[in-house]
Amino acid sequence: MSHSAVEVLWSRNESPTVKTLAFKWDQEVLPGQFVMVWTPGIGEIPMSLSSLGEIKTITVKDFGPPSAAIISTNPGNKLYIRGPYGNHFTRTDGKKLVIGAGSGMASLAPLVDKNTYGIISAREKSEIILTGNFDQGKVMVTTDDGSMGFKGNTIEALKVFDAKVDMIYVCGPEKMLFAVYNYLKDRGIRAEFSLERSMKCGIGICDSCSIDGFQLCRDGPVFSIDQLGSMKEFGVSRLTYSGKRIQM
Ligand code: FES
Repeated sequence: MSHSAVEVLWSRNESPTVKTLAFKWDQEVLPGQFVMVWTPGIGEIPMSLSSLGEIKTITVKDFGPPSAAIISTNPGNKLYIRGPYGNHFTRTDGKKLVIGAGSGMASLAPLVDKNTYGIISAREKSEIILTGNFDQGKVMVTTDDGSMGFKGNTIEALKVFDAKVDMIYVCGPEKMLFAVYNYLKDRGIRAEFSLERSMKCGIGICDSCSIDGFQLCRDGPVFSIDQLGSMKEFGVSRLTYSGKRIQM
C-alpha cells in the first residue's frame, strides 16, 4: 500500500469550488477506476481521474479538509497516490451518453470522444464543469435555477434528449443516480453507474464501502443497471465514515 509521490505540473480552476491538478504517473488507469490520494496529517480520500494520458489529472471539489488540502497543492509540490483500484466502465465504440451531476462529471470525462453526448447537471451555473470536453452541440447543460442551459433536472433533460445511443454512463449524487436508474430500468438501454461510498482502505479490508454484499472498492465503483436492481440500499441508505447508517 505504498504511495507514489507525484509532482503537480499545473492546476486549473474549473469553477469557484472545483480545481483540476495535473501530474505525470506511469501507471495504466482505466475509465471509472479510482486512486486514493493522501495528504499527510490530514487524511486520504478516493478520487477518480479526469484524464488518463501520459499526463493524468484529478478534478477535485472542496468537500472538506482532505479535498481542500489537495486543491491547495501548488505546482511543484507533491501529491501522494496509491492505486488504481476498482473496476471500470465497459468501453463501447458506439454512440454513448454520459450523464454527470456536479463533480461526478470528472470520472466520466475520460469516456468522452467524438461519439459521446453529454447531459451535465448542477444546482447553478458556477457548479457546471468540463463542458469543453464535448464536440459542439453534443452537450446539454441543466441547472436547477436556470442560470445556465436548460432549467430543470437530469430527468427532464433525459426526456427531451432524442439521440439514439448504445450505452449510458452515469455519475453524480446518489439521489440523481437513483432517479436516472428508475427512469431507465424498463427501457432496455445498457447503462452503467459509478457509485460513491465512504472508503478507508480501498482494497477490500475495512468494509466501510459495503453495499448489499458488494464492496465498492473491489466489486465497483461501477455497477450495471441490472446489479443496481438487486441492491436494497441503493438510493435508500449508506454508512458514514464513522460507520453510522444514515438514510439518503
Ligand atoms: S474501502 Fe475498505 S473494504 Fe472498501
